[in-house]
Amino acid sequence: MAKALLDVLTGKAPERRPVWLMRQAGRYLPEYRAVRQEAGSFLDLCYRPDLAAEVTLQPLRRYDFDAAIVFADILVVPHALGLDLKFVENEGPVLSTVRDMAGVDALGTERGPWQYERVYETLRGVKAGLPGHVGLIGFCGAPWTVASYMIEGRGSNRALALAAAQANEMWFRSLMQRLVESSVEYLLGQVAAGAEALQIFDSWAGDLPGELRQRCVHEPIAAIVRGVREVRPEIPFIVFGRGIGMGHAELARATGANAVSVEQDVALSDVLASLPEGVAVQGNLAPEIVMGGGVSLAQGAREICRSVPMDRHVFNLGHGILQHTPPENVTELLKVIREHDGGKT
Ligand code: CP3
Repeated sequence: MAKALLDVLTGKAPERRPVWLMRQAGRYLPEYRAVRQEAGSFLDLCYRPDLAAEVTLQPLRRYDFDAAIVFADILVVPHALGLDLKFVENEGPVLSTVRDMAGVDALGTERGPWQYERVYETLRGVKAGLPGHVGLIGFCGAPWTVASYMIEGRGSNRALALAAAQANEMWFRSLMQRLVESSVEYLLGQVAAGAEALQIFDSWAGDLPGELRQRCVHEPIAAIVRGVREVRPEIPFIVFGRGIGMGHAELARATGANAVSVEQDVALSDVLASLPEGVAVQGNLAPEIVMGGGVSLAQGAREICRSVPMDRHVFNLGHGILQHTPPENVTELLKVIREHDGGKT
């Protein structure tokens, strides 16, 4: 079977509707929790290529997905640039901060930091164990989302980051530029190690309206896409600008994305109709519906399949799968999607 994910991203008719789920490798799977315990911390797991490759492949053994996404985190980039990073249980990431030009100047400048090398090693390991029809996705965070973690030191608040963006502070521009450059290096490394498509996560894109969104979301992502395509013009991009409603068409136009990943509660068919010719949609079942299961899950999944044609759609969630999702609900989700599409499996 050809790779349905890559077919949809490159405008070809796929053999079936491609499906994968954001955070498909994660705590809802008991086998993930076992490996995570063996590794110690979440970050230790990200930097152990053998274990990270194993957890990347775990969901593929249970479910007939069309893509694997390398197991890592968007905060690998600030960590590689020299910030302290830890993941605090039941709280999330905590980082040292950058809030002025001295902070930007203190960031590391070496190419090929060891953190990136570990992720490349994971990709090579995953590639070796991947079924032939499964696409391999590499990723990074978008500069705005990553910068906001670097400025705030955690994910709960973005007042300082928003103020710096609004004032267009010199150090903020400089930080965004550093993130663009390092992300291009990191993504090109991921492609060299086997990634076949790249997703850029801008989880906080919805914070920024109008001109600010153009300057802090569209332009830096466009610069990353351009930088990668200068070297690897064939690589398809999925851009996840979370919370931007009907702003996905503008995002696609500005960045040259092959697909936009859409949050829940936006009509996928409206987004698809608004997109430039040839751009696909990814999404957008609510993670809460998958966690709840039952009739709502079946109805929600069918509704999405009905609303957009399979050659322009990558089935996914509107955000990452929730920790307390029963694994059998994902089995059910795949069954509903495949049945809807006429038993093409
Ligand atoms: O999708 C995948 O399966 C690939 C791996 C992946 C992870 N994080 C693993 C992870 C990806 C693509 C990410 C992206 C990511 N990380 C984003 C963008 C997408 C989004 O969710 O909006 C963001 C903002 C982060 C930062 C981050 N990482 C936070 C805020 C947290 C804590 C919240 C939580 O769920 O605990 C993480 C931790 C994290 N990243 C986990 C996983 C599997 C849970 C860690 C654990 O095992 O304890």
